[in-house]
Amino acid sequence: MKLGVLTGGGDCPGLNPAIRAVVQRATQLGDEVVGILNGWAGLMEIQSRPLTLNDVADIFNVGGTMLGTSRTNPAKSPDGLERVKSNIEKLGLDALVAIGGDDTLGVANKLYAMGVKTVGVPKTMDNDINGADYCIGFQTSVEIVTEALDRLHTTARSHSRVMVCEVMGREAGWVATVGGLAGGADYIIVPEVPTSMDKIVAHLRKRRESGKNYSMVVVSEAAQIDGLGTQNVTKIDAFGHEILTKRGLGEALAEKIEEMTGYETRATVLGHLVRGGPPSAFDRLLGTQVGVAAVDLIHSGQFGKLPVLHDGHIVTMELAEAVGKNQKVDPKLYQLAEVFFN
Ligand code: F6P
Repeated sequence: MKLGVLTGGGDCPGLNPAIRAVVQRATQLGDEVVGILNGWAGLMEIQSRPLTLNDVADIFNVGGTMLGTSRTNPAKSPDGLERVKSNIEKLGLDALVAIGGDDTLGVANKLYAMGVKTVGVPKTMDNDINGADYCIGFQTSVEIVTEALDRLHTTARSHSRVMVCEVMGREAGWVATVGGLAGGADYIIVPEVPTSMDKIVAHLRKRRESGKNYSMVVVSEAAQIDGLGTQNVTKIDAFGHEILTKRGLGEALAEKIEEMTGYETRATVLGHLVRGGPPSAFDRLLGTQVGVAAVDLIHSGQFGKLPVLHDGHIVTMELAEAVGKNQKVDPKLYQLAEVFFN
């Protein structure tokens, strides 16, 4: 067979190990692999390259994606999906592996409904694909948040400051919750759980009065905080999502905390740092597992599906089940975090 593979949406560490695994397994089974460049953009206007074992031999520990990525949404132009389908035919692809998050997998599912033989591979540092314990990229992000909080703690303590650390997480607060827990945050604010300035400030005061001269607040870029006012977002991506890194939530929160408490407060926005650099051991392994499993799905004729890590095992899910549902933070996990600030 001739298989296509693409990476779409925001990049993250672990994509290259997944691409490598696809090529390795496909080659082992006698297939040829074509890399589609820059996500769905590479199928709107054909941009591709052959992928051999040699091409992927040295990428297992490299962040980002060797294929490039984009947030191109073919469904936005009237004939976009048809163009993608016809370009897949022009390339002579028997099946396509789409590695991506909710948006990319949503397009793969639309193509599957049009008769294109697609399978998905779940990646997103946001970790919000329905049914997946962990998606490629998430664990590396958590490691980076944890290290950043370790570093912020020492400077917060030296200066007797409140530190606000803003992290990515468009629809769900997984990175903030898990990273915040691992990094010893004193307050964690996520989109799933409403909170208010009064509550946050009361906890910061309590800490100060009990003798703690500093505090660490982790806030997810998409959180809403009562009493903070609104932060306007003017930029929208091709899938209709607000570009939240432009929102300035961390800065606004830091200013408000300082205004309400008189405690010196600083904000740090981790932003794309948590998506860069080498993948953790976990993401290398997960990328390898789901990359191989995706090729195996194709070989067993199971299309419109994706392999996910679920209850500790790689299982097969329908694309239709995985997309459009945004798995929110496990309430039990957030309750665990609340032990430290409620
Ligand atoms: O991939 C999801 C995500 O990481 C979100 O957490 C974030 O809002 C978004 O990407 C930002 O991505 P970019 O700046 O690349 O558009």
